[in-house]
Amino acid sequence: MSQSPLVRVEGMTLQYKTPDHLVTATYRVSFDIHQGERVVLLGPSGCGKSTILKAVAGFMPPVEGRITLKDRVITSPGPDRMMVFQEFDQLLPWKTVRANVAYPMLVNGVSREEADSRACDALAKVNLSKFIDVYPHMLSGGMKQRVAIARAMAMRPDVLLMDEPYAALDALTRRKMQEELLQLWDDVGFTLIFVTHSIEEAIVVGSRVVVLSPHPGQVRAELNCDHLGFAERESAEFGRLAGRISSMLFDDHEVAH
Ligand SMILES: Nc1ncnc2c1ncn2[C@@H]1O[C@H](COP(=O)(O)OP(=O)(O)OP(=O)(O)O)[C@@H](O)[C@H]1O
Ligand SMILES: [Mg+2]
Repeated sequence: MSQSPLVRVEGMTLQYKTPDHLVTATYRVSFDIHQGERVVLLGPSGCGKSTILKAVAGFMPPVEGRITLKDRVITSPGPDRMMVFQEFDQLLPWKTVRANVAYPMLVNGVSREEADSRACDALAKVNLSKFIDVYPHMLSGGMKQRVAIARAMAMRPDVLLMDEPYAALDALTRRKMQEELLQLWDDVGFTLIFVTHSIEEAIVVGSRVVVLSPHPGQVRAELNCDHLGFAERESAEFGRLAGRISSMLFDDHEVAH
């Protein structure tokens, strides 16, 4: 029996107004996200992936359609949706790792003791217990991303939003971070919307991939890949799915279904 979706994006058109023209970033995009799913938004540069995340985060209202979280229309940002960005400089440089993770909780009314304890737990989950009292400039890019993930998770959001969080990392660190994220998901069971350009990353990280068409973004296909992870990367099925997605992204005539 399937419960109603946690997040529902319905016929969503998103636009930017610039001084001289209107940019349509996405056109009538619809998809659902159920509790505990890992949904990946995959599409070419400029198709509106980051814009969709901004709208789910509540930074940008749709000009058409709507987004609901637990059946309530999203109209503003909230601590129930936490975002992790691509950039390594998301942390406050004058605060320690522990204080960076605790900060959003303190701002949202969590007591100092509770915030500190949740910060330490979250940092342990991303294997940074030894670094809680150092400052961000002493961390590598991958470690800073782990702190950003811990900071988001410590807020216990309904949805974790990640915009190409590993794009600026080297291949080995990227793979390690993907494995850690999946391990964290196994441990905690959160709901994830993850944006990437990489077909392989999409299949490995996602339980479902939403493939978007080029600008303005429209949903081309939704593909289930829950059963495909690192262990299946060399399998024929993984290869077939990757090939199918690749032809959707690079061949405008591929028909979605
Ligand atoms: N602040 C802005 N003002 C005007 N247009 C914008 C703005 N931000 C994005 N756009 C336009 O909206 C469209 C979608 O942009 P968006 O950043 O969402 O794409 P994306 O899929 O995340 O691309 P990338 O993979 O390169 O990050 C693009 O055409 C972009 O030029
Ligand atoms: Mg983007």
